[in-house]
Amino acid sequence: MSNDSLSDKNKIVFNGKEMELNTLSGTVGPSVVDIRSLYSDLGIFTYDPGYGSTGSCESGITFIDGEKGVLLHRGYPIDQLAERSSFLEVAYLLLNGDLPKKPEKEEFENAITYHTMVHEQLINFYRGFRRDAHPMAIMVGVVGALSSFYPDSTNINDPYERLVSSRRMIAKIPTIAAMAYKYSLGQPFNYPQNDLTYAENFLHMCFSVPAEKYKIDPIIASAMDKILILHADHEQNASTSTVRIAGSSGANPFACIAAGIASLWGPAHGGANEAVLKMLSEIGTVDRIDEFVNKAKDKNDPFRLFGFGHRVYKNYDPRAAVMRVSCHEVLGLLGIKNDPLLEIAMELEKIALNDDYFIEKKLYPNVDFYSGIILKAMGFPTDMFTVLFAVARTVGWVAQWNEMITDPVQRIGRPRQLYTGNTIRDFVELKNR
Ligand code: CMC
Repeated sequence: MSNDSLSDKNKIVFNGKEMELNTLSGTVGPSVVDIRSLYSDLGIFTYDPGYGSTGSCESGITFIDGEKGVLLHRGYPIDQLAERSSFLEVAYLLLNGDLPKKPEKEEFENAITYHTMVHEQLINFYRGFRRDAHPMAIMVGVVGALSSFYPDSTNINDPYERLVSSRRMIAKIPTIAAMAYKYSLGQPFNYPQNDLTYAENFLHMCFSVPAEKYKIDPIIASAMDKILILHADHEQNASTSTVRIAGSSGANPFACIAAGIASLWGPAHGGANEAVLKMLSEIGTVDRIDEFVNKAKDKNDPFRLFGFGHRVYKNYDPRAAVMRVSCHEVLGLLGIKNDPLLEIAMELEKIALNDDYFIEKKLYPNVDFYSGIILKAMGFPTDMFTVLFAVARTVGWVAQWNEMITDPVQRIGRPRQLYTGNTIRDFVELKNR
């Protein structure tokens, strides 16, 4: 029997010391146990690698019920926002807590539109990168460098500077992303156009060339807007937590967003959409799907089916449901009826959804499973997929960063550890080792 116990009166007893455990309740979702005084009262830490049971902050922005497959932004279901709203309206909602009234919407859209240009000197910064640099590497570098271009909006204690830096980031991130793409092609950068919507402008900056008139297809622009909405925020995921922890030290907002981009890059997070496409190409033909599904199920093989599974969703990812429909619309419009990768994707989805291993472990297709296919059809190369995710998620990062800065209980993020290294020992001179 151990000397510790958690009684039904919510008291924890450890080494003869006792501590009352208070629970805090949110508006929906599980309550949390408040362990803030655990170390000072009992001299112990908690151990939760990957933070599966740990709430790191209080937040009123996004709610996910992973069991039911629900995603709400400020209370509004994601499917309603994707169908009936626009990306900038969702951005306003995430930042301010409510849908904008007409004048608020106009003021916000105007402010974002008129901040889309970047400092001309920033162009020189791109020239330092190799032409074959991964665009996410460029994003990390350029966004981090913004603090040196806009030092007048880095004072985190000034609400006006926070507002300006937030709007600058949301406005400039598509310009920066499109420039990263154009740089890789060796094509001239396109300046933003203020008569276009956020999504249209991004398409224009990516695909327009000076030699030709670029016509934006409204269905493609609408699909792009949906992709941006579906990726705008997702609670305390790895990149958002990275932004919060970077910001908790008082770092400037541009540096914090650069940290978020770095975290997003990994294939277990935002890099999954790129990994899905690579995996589908590797599978190559429908008859090889079983081989890859078996590899994913093999405990001795590290291979995983990219685009399946989620830390929080143990049901169909609601974003994937919207994206699936949009995916078919876009492919239909572009006349891509027999795309071999799509054929593999659809078959893979069917097989995985009916396979005992995937059913038992509740591994459903996630948003990245479909987004990569749409983006490919739109003409984006695979290494731009995660960049698009970063463009959309910047809104969520900025909203969460602002919430953290104004949270009165906010402290520097500083987890503890279970130390398993050497105990104290004396230094040994080189000749005696
Ligand atoms: N293929 C095969 N097996 C899987 C997969 C998969 N895609 N995902 C999880 N599993 C298995 C895993 O092996 C483990 O099995 P066991 O219990 O026998 O050891 C079990 O399912 C639970 O997995 P886990 O790694 O403990 O789960 P996690 O919550 O730590 O990981 C995840 C979540 C998203 C990192 C993981 O599902 C994964 O690597 N998926 C593929 C990458 C991917 O699509 N990522 C995008 C996530 S959605 C976009 C975003 O929010 O960034």
